[in-house]
Amino acid sequence: MAKANIKRGGKRKMLTCFQETTNLAFQNILKFFVKQNSLVLDITYGRGFSWKNLKETYKIIKIDKRKINDDVIQSDFNDYLLKKEDSSVDCIYFDPPYYFKEKIKDYDIKKQMFNEEKEVFWTEDEFNQALNTLQNEVPRVLRKRGIIIIKMMDGYIGKYYYPNTFKVFNSLSNVMTSLGIFICPIQRKNPQNFIRENHIYYVVFQNIKEENKNEL
Ligand SMILES: C[S@@+](CC[C@H](N)C(=O)[O-])C[C@H]1O[C@@H](n2cnc3c(N)ncnc32)[C@H](O)[C@@H]1O
Repeated sequence: MAKANIKRGGKRKMLTCFQETTNLAFQNILKFFVKQNSLVLDITYGRGFSWKNLKETYKIIKIDKRKINDDVIQSDFNDYLLKKEDSSVDCIYFDPPYYFKEKIKDYDIKKQMFNEEKEVFWTEDEFNQALNTLQNEVPRVLRKRGIIIIKMMDGYIGKYYYPNTFKVFNSLSNVMTSLGIFICPIQRKNPQNFIRENHIYYVVFQNIKEENKNEL
């Protein structure tokens, strides 16, 4: 598979296509764009697998609607972001559920569940609300030049394609500057009647308006 590189400062290189586990892909992207010891707000912390075995130090504020660990602040991320102070974090990480619950009625999901339902399903309305929150609150909550990393799975459900990553990308490009899209291909076979998956994308934006990006 072809691998493209982006260069930064002429020295460090970053792959745009990862064939490793998604926690390593996330950690590589984080380390590339966000300095160690920065304050990261993870608004869908879940079990914290994304952070597993990370050697570098970051200060993490852990938010999730499920309280899986004691150090997780239990909150809906829309409410949390709405109340969060201006310019208060260096990075936001968003790894929402994958599938729209209402679109999978025809599938026997029990056999296909790898994780808990609340972890992998949400509704299209929740997705649209999240788009709104991202566009309105993220540029306010991030410090200037702060970074948002979004892990999204564009999904096929049967033959219908839901271009969620593009929707997120279009929405955030109205208010911030895009730094890249990174792909983690899923190479699992899709037997008939399986909820089909597409690749996982990491979308990265910086809190600076497109017209001011020469200040980067
Ligand atoms: C794909 S999982 C995240 C996995 C996590 N990054 C990890 O490494 O374990 C999606 C998470 O989003 C959480 N979630 C879904 N809707 C939410 C909401 N409105 N507010 C906060 N968390 C939410 C779920 O509880 C679930 O833990």
